[in-house]
Amino acid sequence: MPGIFMNAIAINSSPRKDKGNTALILDSFLEGLREAGVEVELYYTSDLKINPCLGDFSCWLRTGGRCAQEDDMTWLDPKIRAADLLILASPVYCDGITGPLKTLLDRTVAQVKPMFEIRDGHIRHPLQDDVLKSKIVLVSNCGFWEMDNFDPLLVHINAYCRNAHAEFAGALLRPHGEALKPMLDMGLPVRDVLDAAKEAGRQLATTGRMMPETLSAVSRDLMTRDMYMQMANQFLQGILEKRK
Ligand SMILES: Cc1cc2nc3c(=O)[nH]c(=O)nc-3n(C[C@H](O)[C@H](O)[C@H](O)COP(=O)(O)O)c2cc1C
Repeated sequence: MPGIFMNAIAINSSPRKDKGNTALILDSFLEGLREAGVEVELYYTSDLKINPCLGDFSCWLRTGGRCAQEDDMTWLDPKIRAADLLILASPVYCDGITGPLKTLLDRTVAQVKPMFEIRDGHIRHPLQDDVLKSKIVLVSNCGFWEMDNFDPLLVHINAYCRNAHAEFAGALLRPHGEALKPMLDMGLPVRDVLDAAKEAGRQLATTGRMMPETLSAVSRDLMTRDMYMQMANQFLQGILEKRK
């Protein structure tokens, strides 16, 4: 029997790829999806050649809804159009998503038609005929402590979803994300964070939604803010001392 999702595409835009902090949360989440039967294809923007949008609207006006540029979007764009679940994963970089992920999203403007329409009391574009209405999940982690470091990304991806006719299905957010890996390596009791990320994947795959308590468990404090600041400063000072 077909599940809730048929085709899921995940994009990890950390240049640290599978070794990064974003991957810790993302990979656990994908494990939950896969174990519940969802087919997921994972791509790293670092492996892809995706040129910036040229801004000439040729996709809308000359090439029938396809970008005129030949690069990795030539084959990835049709996969995204056919996906019913899109997972966007990014560390927070200068209060936003990474540049490569923004470049990729800019290129998806070819997935809407040029004409204007009113939808939800707002001028927007209709979807191209071959684009599925999908759900979008954001997976992010950041180096600072506070959850509000994710606010700009949440506003951005929510707005993107409204224009892309997609449903924002929620976000897995890991503040003070730099602490998680060392704590795991030291055997400290933080595996529950990864278990929660996996559980969020299972929930999404089986019910189409993720429970707020599960998402909160992904974001839970790993230590006090003062402790994190002290440990980070000691670690950074140590590296700088060695370079002297
Ligand atoms: C260029 C750059 C900009 C960053 N900007 C922010 C920022 O604005 N806020 C923040 O909390 N962390 C920021 N960070 C820290 C990263 O979000 C953090 O190191 C994260 O854990 C990296 O994830 P990754 O291992 O998946 O790449 C920045 C890191 C880099 C390299």
